[in-house]
Amino acid sequence: MAKKLFIKTHGCQMNVYDSARMADVLAPLGYAKTETPDDADMVIINTCHIREKAAEKVFSELGHWRIRKHAAQARGGDVTIAVAGCVAQAEGAELINRAPFVDLVVGSQAYHQLPELLARAERARVKGTGGRGILATDFPVDSKFDHLPDEISTAPGPVGYLAIQEGCDKFCTFCVVPYTRGAEYSRPAQAVIAEADRLVATGVTEIALLGQNVNAWHGEGLDGGAWSLGRLLRVLNDRFAKTHPQLRWRYTTSHPREMDDDLIAAHGEVAGLMPFLHLPIQAGSDAVLKAMNRGHRAEDYLRIVEKLRAARPDIALSGDFITGFPGESDTDFEQTLELVRAARYAAGYSFKYSARPGTPGSLLARQVPDAVSSERLYALQALLQEQSAAFNRACEGRVLDVLFDRPGKLPGQLIGRSQYLQAIYVSDPSLRIGDFLPVTITGGYANSLAGEIARREAA
Ligand code: 5AD
Ligand code: SF4
Repeated sequence: MAKKLFIKTHGCQMNVYDSARMADVLAPLGYAKTETPDDADMVIINTCHIREKAAEKVFSELGHWRIRKHAAQARGGDVTIAVAGCVAQAEGAELINRAPFVDLVVGSQAYHQLPELLARAERARVKGTGGRGILATDFPVDSKFDHLPDEISTAPGPVGYLAIQEGCDKFCTFCVVPYTRGAEYSRPAQAVIAEADRLVATGVTEIALLGQNVNAWHGEGLDGGAWSLGRLLRVLNDRFAKTHPQLRWRYTTSHPREMDDDLIAAHGEVAGLMPFLHLPIQAGSDAVLKAMNRGHRAEDYLRIVEKLRAARPDIALSGDFITGFPGESDTDFEQTLELVRAARYAAGYSFKYSARPGTPGSLLARQVPDAVSSERLYALQALLQEQSAAFNRACEGRVLDVLFDRPGKLPGQLIGRSQYLQAIYVSDPSLRIGDFLPVTITGGYANSLAGEIARREAA
């Protein structure tokens, strides 16, 4: 009988991708995914370490799994507990020590080894060797991508994720990613294309290319030379343009320093590339950008925005921002607000600075008091909400192309994404997940839009 695998995914889209790939790795061992924790034979908690209290949240979640495991053991069974992702990578040893009932801690570059790690965990249990879990958080010399199976075990639904790049060499001084994900690595174009073929064969309508620094992708091209992301997007788009003309492409997350002219031009030329870009800047003051080690100034960023809008006038932008980075003055923060006003975002994500252990930022003097960071966060969020509401309101009356990928809360309601990545709510009994339809926007709000299926012209 198939064993049931429950995966709980926290954090970013890369974790969603990794979770799917871990399921693929375990499928040949007879594990089938379940959505109900109660019948799981194995759980993987795929964790995120980017902000505050990450480890504490994992320990509290593990508490529930410990109870499930003990209950299963009392019935003569077991639940294998694995912790994966960035908390596993960063705090694996502590996890094993503080939660000895965890069977396996597997880092972000080691999960292709899950079958042999599981076998080791099993042997340790049989021998009763003191109950410690297995820790696998090394960065192997060769890439995990060379060892992952080709088969996609579960169709992803309307939107497929495809990791083309991983890791980060930028070392922003606030960020744990260069430590948890390791050095920048670009998959060869051939591997990317083969995985895109497999995703398209499952019936996806949209593919999001992923990487912590996705636009730093410089993988080996089909001609043996190093390609850029702009080139890759053109090749991918052309490959499916005839057979799958509706296929939509996105890529995330990008760094301003890697936004080259060819990639910018692709936004005006590649038909399937969506008019949306997530381009974090984090702060608007050059002094803060420098202290963050971002490697660019506010005006460089605004210049990129200008070029993007010249290439694709309707492009929608989103960004990430941090308030209260060490040393940030009131004037510095004012410059963040100014930058936001100048760039005009369709969506924005802002966070209070959190000193992450092991990052250079955590050692900086002049940490900003929490109350000040909070106050700035509220002011920034208010401005970003104003901008997203304005962007969404301006869509009222327009017809947007919506790919429905989730159920809504109300009966008969589905949620989909427009070309601008807005969340669109439509109630219509005929709608099904996977439908890709023109929708007339009837209401635009700060975080969502309402719409109805556009009446098609009578034939
Ligand atoms: N504190 C606050 N926000 C952070 N981010 C990354 N590290 C930190 C931190 N230490 C935010 C950045 C990044 C997003 C994914 O999370 O804005 O772009
Ligand atoms: Fe973190 Fe900066 Fe790398 Fe992004 S570019 S992952 S914020 S270090």
